[in-house]
Amino acid sequence: MNKIVILTGAGISAESGLGTFRDADGLWARHRIEDVATPEGFARNPGLVQGFYNERRANAADAAPNAAHQALARLQQDWQGDVIIVTQNVDDLHEKGGAQDVLHMHGTLAGALCGNCGHRWPSPATMQVDEPCPACQAPAARPDVVWFGEMPYFMEEIYDHLAEADLFAAIGTSGQVYPAANFVQEAAISGAHTVELNLDPSAVVSNFAETRFGPATRIVPEWVDELLKGQP
Ligand code: OAD
Repeated sequence: MNKIVILTGAGISAESGLGTFRDADGLWARHRIEDVATPEGFARNPGLVQGFYNERRANAADAAPNAAHQALARLQQDWQGDVIIVTQNVDDLHEKGGAQDVLHMHGTLAGALCGNCGHRWPSPATMQVDEPCPACQAPAARPDVVWFGEMPYFMEEIYDHLAEADLFAAIGTSGQVYPAANFVQEAAISGAHTVELNLDPSAVVSNFAETRFGPATRIVPEWVDELLKGQP
């Protein structure tokens, strides 16, 4: 076994104090997706949307990586083959935990994107409504996050990795949002062993060959230790 592809979701950051989306007290219980996570919502009320992401950016800045983020960084460092981390998370806890080259398929809170010219630059801690783009000066800055109805980032690269994967793991994701929810099937078709690590079974749990349930800070370090011990 050589190449490992890992998909992570909000559950891996839950024990760092960042809320998930669909748990009982999650972000989508308190905010409407169509208000804060769609281009139409942003056009209707940019102040509400900037406020939502400003708050999430501040929470993420205060959060520390947990044992699960650190275990994946350790796997990347000590595994003899490739370890590709694809995350749906817009926080930077994988990077803070020591991971390299993380593919943020839903974008990142650290980035700003111009809705007018497409220029990207590091986001200020607080993004104002009508924040000007440093390249074209249009007052059209938005968080560089992917909203519903928009194409996730790095898709071609991710599908190439899935086609080459020997092992695919999904960690802390509910399997309710596509295309990420379909990665397990893509990897399985290519012959990868598939494993779900989650607190509760996801919506696509039956597509996995192996499952491990529990809090990420316990089950991810255990899984990584097993993989590294099994190396020749
Ligand atoms: P969800 O909130 O949908 O799912 C979180 C998952 O994490 C659930 O399966 C929980 O059981 C699990 N979980 C909670 N606490 C955990 C813990 N301590 N250890 C392990 N697992 C735990 O979040 P995502 O699947 O990441 O997209 O959501 C996917 C996408 O939907 C997000 O990227 C976001 C959201 O709408 C956009 O905004 C485009």
